[in-house]
Amino acid sequence: MSTYSPLPVSFSHGRGAELFSSEGQSFLDGLSGIAVTNLGHAHPRVTAAITEQAAKLLHCSNIYRIDLQEQVGEELTRRAAMERVFFSNSGAEANEAAIKLARLHAHHRGIGRPQIVALEGAFHGRTLAALSATGNSKIQAGFGPMVEGFLRAPRNDLDALRQLAQRHSDIAALMLEPVQGESGIHPLDLDYLSAAAALCKKQGWLLIFDEVQSGNGRTGSYFYYQQTDVKPDIVSTAKALGNGVPIGACLARGEAAQTFAPGHHGSTYGGNPLACAAAGAVLESLATEQLQERAQPLGQRIVGSFQQALQHQDAVQEYRRAGLMIGIELKQDCGALVALALEAGLLINVTAARTIRLLPPLVMTDEQGRQLGETLASVVDHWLTQNQTMAGTA
Ligand SMILES: Cc1ncc(COP(=O)(O)O)c(C=O)c1O
Repeated sequence: MSTYSPLPVSFSHGRGAELFSSEGQSFLDGLSGIAVTNLGHAHPRVTAAITEQAAKLLHCSNIYRIDLQEQVGEELTRRAAMERVFFSNSGAEANEAAIKLARLHAHHRGIGRPQIVALEGAFHGRTLAALSATGNSKIQAGFGPMVEGFLRAPRNDLDALRQLAQRHSDIAALMLEPVQGESGIHPLDLDYLSAAAALCKKQGWLLIFDEVQSGNGRTGSYFYYQQTDVKPDIVSTAKALGNGVPIGACLARGEAAQTFAPGHHGSTYGGNPLACAAAGAVLESLATEQLQERAQPLGQRIVGSFQQALQHQDAVQEYRRAGLMIGIELKQDCGALVALALEAGLLINVTAARTIRLLPPLVMTDEQGRQLGETLASVVDHWLTQNQTMAGTA
């Protein structure tokens, strides 16, 4: 079904931060399949792990113990300083688990019709509850009625949260992306995160972080919250957890970690041996290859090269960044840049109409980072000059 409008290129293979088209042309990957291939393409450890596992056991139902799942679960909870984990197959599913967990926790506390506060601009996925939590009416349009039980607050607005706390006694949780991705890369204010966490504690709300996009090393730590003084009760992730093999996770600590019992939730594929082999290889690579450490300097280099090469143009409204989540908001809509960048051999994304979004892999070299920044600047420069000429002749 036509749920995407694909660009006119297909890739036969990739290596590190490079992709190769079926015609043999090479492209620099500034997007990582939208924050999925954080370790780059054809990473040897991931390839070896899934090849070996595929020859042994692809799948086993969760009605049996799965050793590999237990090992990966232990390592992931340790890395996140969480206590328990539920494995899903995608980000939306990880969020569905988080939402169900928050509701059940509230029911156990005697809240009959629990509500979850989610933020404007949030993106939590396309399944119905995740879509209902998503703060973007364009994405929700046509799919009503939404799942009930969600309240909305503007991002970085503590007063709005306080007012909701005064008006509603049935709030179960606050759910947010600490770095909003789809809305155009907005790292939430650190003061806001701290104050929101304190409010959650005071009100008895669970704090849920959606780190589907920001997790798994992308911002310089395993999860972004590990760079803040805030620790959520529940964190969801997916995307780069399997470096391209579908796997998601909903992690929890404290009471939330003890809430699900057998029969409450499940997934046929969730945490199966193949997916866990990939996730295990990702965790090991992040621990041993100093990749997370690349996020901050490489992000700086890419933005610096772009800035320097485009300094003669007054085109940029704002730069926003957390490690290798890079948002360059232009002063005008710029969706056309995606196809123009592709022609120049670059994979990029534009989100929220005017924000260039870059999510390059952690394995991108410094030289490739410079190339990404400079080539992108030249594409933007060309496009602006062309627009100005057309405006002049009109
Ligand atoms: C923050 C966030 N949450 C959830 C999702 C949904 O993940 P998936 O597409 O794997 O269902 C995404 C996907 O872009 C995301 O960025």
